[in-house]
Amino acid sequence: MKKKTTQFVCQECGYETSQWLGKCPECGNWNSFKEFRVGPPVTESKLGAISSGASLTPKKLSEIDLTQTIRIPTGFAEMDTVLGGGIVPGSVTLIAGDPGVGKSTLLLQVCINIAKLKKKVLYISGEESLEQIKMRASRITDMTQLDSLLFLSLSNTDSIPDIVISMKPDIVIIDSIQTMESAEAGGLSGSVGQVRYATSVFIRTAKTHKIPHILVGHVTKEGMVAGPMLLSHMVDAVLFLEGEKFTRVKILRSLKNRFGPVDEVGVFIMEEKGMQEVTNPEQVFLTAKKDTTSGSVLVAVMEGTRPFLIEIQALVVYSKFPMPRRVVSGIDSKRVELLLAVLQKHCRLPVETMDVFVNIAGGMRIDDPAADLGICLAVYSSLKNKSLADVVGIAEVGLLGELRKVMNIEKRIKEAKKLGFSKIYTAEKDSLLINVLKKLE
Ligand code: TYD
Ligand code: MG
Repeated sequence: MKKKTTQFVCQECGYETSQWLGKCPECGNWNSFKEFRVGPPVTESKLGAISSGASLTPKKLSEIDLTQTIRIPTGFAEMDTVLGGGIVPGSVTLIAGDPGVGKSTLLLQVCINIAKLKKKVLYISGEESLEQIKMRASRITDMTQLDSLLFLSLSNTDSIPDIVISMKPDIVIIDSIQTMESAEAGGLSGSVGQVRYATSVFIRTAKTHKIPHILVGHVTKEGMVAGPMLLSHMVDAVLFLEGEKFTRVKILRSLKNRFGPVDEVGVFIMEEKGMQEVTNPEQVFLTAKKDTTSGSVLVAVMEGTRPFLIEIQALVVYSKFPMPRRVVSGIDSKRVELLLAVLQKHCRLPVETMDVFVNIAGGMRIDDPAADLGICLAVYSSLKNKSLADVVGIAEVGLLGELRKVMNIEKRIKEAKKLGFSKIYTAEKDSLLINVLKKLE
């Protein structure tokens, strides 16, 4: 029987099938299948190239040499923490984020920092011309001393490994994986087939020649979320750069890391001269203390292993509507609805007739339930016109109005005290939300 030479791949989720389907059985999207030529099988010589990087003889732990895993520092302490201590030789890291969030800027700065260590850096851009890159770079630094940083404007996947192997740089940046294209894979650049093929090519070079690669991946609404996510099982680490379009604060987060912790975060601010790391996050997340204004309370949330003191702002006003408005940003709005119901039922606050607005200062997103108490206190503060700007609330709130203990309480309290706050309310001290409100009356 003749072997099939084409295959259909869902552009949303990567589901593969041998015949065209109208609807994807995996993700349910319609008309998402595209036809691809099946790539040539991995040949013996290619397999040989992979295994030549690694030894074929099993080794004892005592025989494994760790000197090879000396990591390359990125020049940003915040980014090194997220990576678990710098870039591992031969690793492939994907940095994903919305277009315009600052991926290219951050990586260009990383390249400059690494080049200053006299290491060879190759930055391959499929998105921007060399002139555009130079314009960006001139905002960030004067380039006179950076002879070991080289740029290439190229989007042909298959020509890159040869260039990399002959140049032998200490690190390669591919910006972005969606612009890479090869005749081997079929389909347009950015399609699932092209992106996956390009990634596998770069992984092969990285592993065989111990040259770390950082790939940039855009996340867009039109399903390219699937792109970087599809790659996440292939690469060693996935970092997400997040930030609201109009806020300067950008947060780098590790979603997967074979060489370090996950859920670790680094905080950056986008300035006129590129990204600046923020080592004191309170500069960003706490507004100047205004002791007389109501509606502001602090919470101590954990991001990875780090406690952050963040300001919750609430505004509670009489509603003109039969269904009062709840406008929430930075927290799950259902969570806020639930906390308002608890305040109404167990603390007898008349929130059912009020419009409630809740916001996180600095544009951070909070998922930590330890912020519950702070959210309740901020609503209470605005409703009663009572300033609680120097109060820190650290507890989860249950449906019965009870306070629940949260993890890492000592770390969180320590952070609050370090920044000079002593009015700290926790589940360790009070068992009911109503008791805390009574103390604050
Ligand atoms: P960019 O790194 O191009 O985003 P991405 O690669 O993720 O698409 O960042 C683009 C934004 O950053 C753009 O709106 C301009 C802004 N920017 C600054 O504010 N300061 C700077 O020094 C630079 C280089 C860019
Ligand atoms: Mg870019």
